[in-house]
Amino acid sequence: MKIYIDGKFYDKEDAKISVFDHGFLYGDGVFEGIRAYNGKIFGMDEHIDRIFASAQYIKLQIPMTKEEIKEALYKTLEANALKDAYVRLVVSRGVGDLGLDPRKCPKPTVIIIATYWGAMYGDLYSKGIKVITASTRRIPPQCLDVKAKTLNYLNNILAKIETFDVRADEALMLDVDGFVSEGTGDNIFVVKGGKILTPSAGSSMLLGITRKAVMDIAKNLNIEVEERKLTLLEVYNADETFMTGTAAEIIPIREVDGRKIKSCPGEITMKIIEEFKKIR
Ligand SMILES: Cc1ncc(COP(=O)(O)O)c(C=O)c1O
Repeated sequence: MKIYIDGKFYDKEDAKISVFDHGFLYGDGVFEGIRAYNGKIFGMDEHIDRIFASAQYIKLQIPMTKEEIKEALYKTLEANALKDAYVRLVVSRGVGDLGLDPRKCPKPTVIIIATYWGAMYGDLYSKGIKVITASTRRIPPQCLDVKAKTLNYLNNILAKIETFDVRADEALMLDVDGFVSEGTGDNIFVVKGGKILTPSAGSSMLLGITRKAVMDIAKNLNIEVEERKLTLLEVYNADETFMTGTAAEIIPIREVDGRKIKSCPGEITMKIIEEFKKIR
């Protein structure tokens, strides 16, 4: 396995960063989770635009151009002889001192890891996953805008931990007002009466690239998509519900908080999965 760090490739054992890197000390940095299918990176421009937007939000200057990053991503796939891969792009604040001050970190660290990662949920794509609502609420934009994909994922990790004792596959997070936000690493969709509903762009959630792809697919299939505030009652009473993300792709949900979902995998979910397989 060859890992890209600041323009050079290292074997996995030698791929190391300083303990003074603020990405490690403070979660100060940004990242992207990307998939390549058959040698082509899915949603390349969207991922690159999003990491630059996240970096701009935290006032971090990525030390490469968008084109240079794209090239480095493909070089990493090549170095690992991978055509189908999960690719992690990380840009951390870089090495500084023990204080918070990011001005003490003159050079951001750029890391790219590419690995084979098949279907994240294994055989559950035909059965659906069990979801619980986490008591941990999604961070509101007054505190930190989670539309920036930063290295600070403790909010999501706390929600994920809640799934362990109850043996759920994923946690659904609500915003501070109690409206449905997203999963710990995926967006949520509900199908009701032939129509697709999903939390609106203004919600406390990451604007997923898979979410956008699914919305485009639905529109091409002439299925109406409405973005608005969603409540748990609507999720429990969905005809179908599923989550989307780069790692999870499109995963049907069979149960939420002990409520069985009417249809899993539902007809519309299956149609969307079929179309997604064609474009990825
Ligand atoms: C919190 C969160 N929500 C949603 C998603 C799904 O986004 P995407 O489809 O761009 O992978 C991710 C994964 O990147 C995520 O970390």
